[in-house]
Amino acid sequence: MQLPSHSHKNRFLIPFFGLTVVLLVSLAPPTSSCTEQEKSSLIKFLSGLWKDGGLTVSWRSDTDCCSWEGITCSLNRAVTDVSLASQGLEGSISPFLGNLTSLLRLNLSRNSLSGGLPLELVSSSSIIVLDVSFNRLTGGLHKLPSSTPARPLQVLNISSNLLTGPFPSTIWKTMNNLIALNASNNRFTGAIPTYFCNGSPSLVVLELSFNKLSGSIPPGLGGCSMLTVLRGGYNNLSGTLPDELSNATSLECLSFPNNYLQGVLDSACIFSLRNLRTIDLGGNYFNGRIPDSVGQLKRLEKFQLGHNNLS
Ligand SMILES: *[C@@H]1O[C@H](CO)[C@@H](O)[C@H](O)[C@H]1NC(C)=O
Ligand SMILES: *[C@@H]1O[C@H](CO)[C@@H](O)[C@H](O)[C@H]1NC(C)=O
Ligand SMILES: *[C@@H]1O[C@H](CO)[C@@H](O)[C@H](O)[C@H]1NC(C)=O
Ligand SMILES: *[C@@H]1O[C@H](CO)[C@@H](O)[C@H](O)[C@H]1NC(C)=O
Ligand SMILES: *[C@@H]1O[C@H](CO)[C@@H](O)[C@H](O)[C@H]1NC(C)=O
Ligand SMILES: *[C@@H]1O[C@H](CO)[C@@H](O)[C@H](O)[C@H]1NC(C)=O
Repeated sequence: MQLPSHSHKNRFLIPFFGLTVVLLVSLAPPTSSCTEQEKSSLIKFLSGLWKDGGLTVSWRSDTDCCSWEGITCSLNRAVTDVSLASQGLEGSISPFLGNLTSLLRLNLSRNSLSGGLPLELVSSSSIIVLDVSFNRLTGGLHKLPSSTPARPLQVLNISSNLLTGPFPSTIWKTMNNLIALNASNNRFTGAIPTYFCNGSPSLVVLELSFNKLSGSIPPGLGGCSMLTVLRGGYNNLSGTLPDELSNATSLECLSFPNNYLQGVLDSACIFSLRNLRTIDLGGNYFNGRIPDSVGQLKRLEKFQLGHNNLS
């Protein structure tokens, strides 16, 4: 006697479901396209380009900007993603992109964009992933007022540009959510900020190779308990490997080749970094013995200490 009652239920369920859909659709707010303000911010970005890689074909102001090439919107039609990597774009990055208040990810990697990196983007209160790597950006990173509240930025890739100047420490104090910073292959000068892991306890990747950084490796990096990749090769760094680094026990890659680092490699420090897969300290002025503890690093795959004064 179960069967008839089931089919009886289903006859009611189907029309009821249909009615619910009709109700939901008619109750939904009339936001069927992106706002004029968001559209105008994107158009301002477009007008800052002198080569737009053919974007104007789809970026027509009489159409919904959520349908434009490279643009993704949320369900309520707010722009969340601008993905324009490898589009042959030339020109500058408009600060007006910072007016897209729901923007989560901006990827302009592998273009030929020049000019500065607008502070509005680095200090945005919505962006979590910002990738402007492989462009021709110039100028420096701007200072932020120390009163700036914590920023949501998690991934910042500014590598392979022509950026100069020091890393202002104030900027990192507000980056409490930073997971990966790739600033390699630029022209940054000055010291590595001491502040990194006080501000960004969640830092996993810190890549600073191929710059002009000087001074020593800050002991504070030892406080980066999540740090797995630490790279700073091909700079002008001096001093010793700080003992405090032995506290960064998540480290898998420790790479500082071709600097002016010196001193003895501490056996206990190396021993506590049990997760190391890569040690590259070649081309420095380290002296003394190669620590025995290296033999106990079970995961070690790459071990480069050439061109030092080791015995
Ligand atoms: C939009 O961005 C520009 C450039 O950053 C800024 O001057 C302007 O105040 C912003 N407008 C709004 C409504 O946020
Ligand atoms: C940006 O886009 C490029 C090309 O699609 C991709 O390789 C890269 O991983 C993206 N960046 C991020 C941070 O996802
Ligand atoms: C930039 O760096 C981030 C973080 O390391 C990475 O996810 C992304 O793929 C990189 N982008 C490119 C184009 O390699
Ligand atoms: C940083 O970016 C460079 C390209 O500029 C890339 O080769 C490198 O793998 C990146 N490093 C990390 C740790 O993401
Ligand atoms: C390299 O570092 C040394 C010692 O810190 C400093 O005297 C020198 O000016 C630096 N050179 C460059 C090009 O930054
Ligand atoms: C490592 O961390 C512990 C606990 O936070 C601290 O007591 C110790 O002094 C640190 N060691 C070094 C070498 O910084």
